[in-house]
Amino acid sequence: MACPATASAAAFLPVLTVEDLWPPFALSITCGPLSLRAMRDDDLPELVAAAADGIHGDDLRPFPRAWAGRPTTELGRDLASRYWRHRANFSSDEWGLPLVARFEGRIVGVQGAEAVRYPVLRTPDTFSWLTRSVQGRGLGTLMRQAICVFLFDELDAHAVTSGAYADNPASAAVSRKVGYVANGTRLELRDDAAAEHHKFILMRDRLVRPERPVVVEGGAALRRFVGVPRPDEG
Ligand SMILES: CC(C)(COP(=O)(O)OP(=O)(O)OC[C@H]1O[C@@H](n2cnc3c(N)ncnc32)[C@H](O)[C@@H]1OP(=O)(O)O)[C@@H](O)C(=O)NCCC(=O)NCCS
Repeated sequence: MACPATASAAAFLPVLTVEDLWPPFALSITCGPLSLRAMRDDDLPELVAAAADGIHGDDLRPFPRAWAGRPTTELGRDLASRYWRHRANFSSDEWGLPLVARFEGRIVGVQGAEAVRYPVLRTPDTFSWLTRSVQGRGLGTLMRQAICVFLFDELDAHAVTSGAYADNPASAAVSRKVGYVANGTRLELRDDAAAEHHKFILMRDRLVRPERPVVVEGGAALRRFVGVPRPDEG
């Protein structure tokens, strides 16, 4: 028999939802046919299928480590562990938010942002990839615009940065179209060799917003979660 104290405590404890406990799961950013949501475990098979369909040709090396051309099971393990690591290590001092991008309901890639000491610096960095079959139709631009609107309007960012290897013109073109300006070049590692990496920075007043409205749900909970609540949000 349960002791009376335990029984009465259990009766009065509120049961929170997983979205209450983990606010990124409650975040939804939509703009027309595009939606961005935190990756749930159930999204993984479709996300891996999108990556396995191909992200880039052999002539392009857009990532610090060549992960995109791997066999599907390895790709799945790699994507899962990287995105779960972001979830496991999330704190207001350092976070990464890989959001699953859906176009007309189908998973097509990832648009994410990551930040260090966000409450002080408020300068997140964006990253993204799309399955090849949907590239070149403006979707990469739209999802970058959508996350930047969210970062400025909801997370009260001061600036947003991005970067691309010098031989990745599509990514640089997206940055320029969204309003980022060049912010220097650095040598960075790419598969153990040094490669030129171009930096870009976007200030709020230069953001090129999409034609359709960006609708955000779950912004206030996420502000609290990353340590930048507004005065009335405690
Ligand atoms: C980068 C990426 C997300 C962009 O998405 P996308 O849907 O292809 O981008 P969009 O169609 O919105 O815009 C691409 C822009 O790049 C331009 N572009 C594409 N290839 C180009 C090239 N070789 N040279 C110059 N510009 C190029 C396009 O002309 C277009 O600009 P425009 O609309 O003014 O013509 C996508 O291409 C991708 O996933 N690439 C592989 C992974 C990657 O590079 N991720 C980023 C790592 S930093």
